[in-house]
Amino acid sequence: MEKITINTTGFKSEILVGGKWESVSGLLPDKGVVIITDHNVRRLYGDKFPGVPVFSLSPGEGSKKLEVIEHLADQLLEAGIDRAGFVLAVGGGVVCDVAGFLASVYMRGIRCGYVSTTLLSQVDASTGGKNGVNLGGTKNMLGTIRQPEFVICDPSMLETLPEQEYLSGLAELIKTAVIGDKELFELIERSYDNIMSRNSDLLTHLVAKSVRFKGLVVSEDENETGLRRILNFGHTFGHAVELQKALKHGFAVASGMELATAFSFEKGYISPEEKERIISLLKRFVLLDEHDLTDDQLEKIVLHDKKKTGTDIHFVFTHGIGKANVEKIPVGEVLSFYKRFRDKK
Ligand SMILES: NC(=O)c1ccc[n+]([C@@H]2O[C@H](COP(=O)([O-])OP(=O)(O)OC[C@H]3O[C@@H](n4cnc5c(N)ncnc54)[C@H](O)[C@@H]3O)[C@@H](O)[C@H]2O)c1
Repeated sequence: MEKITINTTGFKSEILVGGKWESVSGLLPDKGVVIITDHNVRRLYGDKFPGVPVFSLSPGEGSKKLEVIEHLADQLLEAGIDRAGFVLAVGGGVVCDVAGFLASVYMRGIRCGYVSTTLLSQVDASTGGKNGVNLGGTKNMLGTIRQPEFVICDPSMLETLPEQEYLSGLAELIKTAVIGDKELFELIERSYDNIMSRNSDLLTHLVAKSVRFKGLVVSEDENETGLRRILNFGHTFGHAVELQKALKHGFAVASGMELATAFSFEKGYISPEEKERIISLLKRFVLLDEHDLTDDQLEKIVLHDKKKTGTDIHFVFTHGIGKANVEKIPVGEVLSFYKRFRDKK
């Protein structure tokens, strides 16, 4: 098992990659613990949950809303959870986002930890302390940044993940590789069979590499005022595609990465070979989808994007495999690039 420590101002978060999730019992306080999970995860793993109250969400993005937080807070209150309480999330990105937000606002904040059960949450969502819910059609508009005390990433839990969920997580892993780890990119390129067969040792290694990279970025810039913005590679267009087509997060980010890669190439930041390698890898895992955003749809999403300041947007470009840079560019430039890309197809 690998233990990766994320150090942020006054706080230490331990990410445990490769161990058994059942060991979580040893990390919990003796009383005041509640589990937040979703119905699928509870059906698969609930019989081995520690003996504490369990509150279960409907699976999927629809549970990321304020009413759910309010309802859970009522349930915590009824269960007698006070400021010494502890929220344990057992689930994917949705459960961790909801439980992390709840823990950060309930009685002005109580302790929390995660057992991360999807590839997407293991490689990305459960590290870094961001949480949140959606507001109407806009993703993650309400949320906080609060580190969990621990995150357990057990590769054996990924065996039960439906294929499309697994591939969705792979897209975020490829994102990490493109923005920060050329060696990881090359490992993914040559490990197709072992990735598809969910080889447990390989997954432990891949998740640990991704968490280590994200941990370094978050330790340097927890509040996303600079470096952390590179983690949004593919997300500006990705969020627009996600909402237009109701795609799983990773597939939308993959389409966003294809666009951001083509935009980086158009700007002269990457060679034709680099562009080809990134897009081929996304195609190999069948992550790309057709999209045809109208000008209105794209403009609406980009204008609501949290990466925007005034009429400019912080857009993440790749500068070669393993390198990324954030540039403040006018929103109009993003829109006109998309039109050129769409018209060429
Ligand atoms: N906070 C962050 O930094 C951050 C980063 C990236 C993504 N996210 C968010 O994460 C969310 C997506 O996360 P996700 O892809 O994990 O989705 P998810 O939590 O909805 O899980 C996907 C599906 O897999 C099921 N599932 C979970 N674990 C399973 C297991 N071990 N076996 C079988 N089924 C299982 C769930 O019930 C659900 O149906 C999005 O809302 C996105 O915005 C957050």
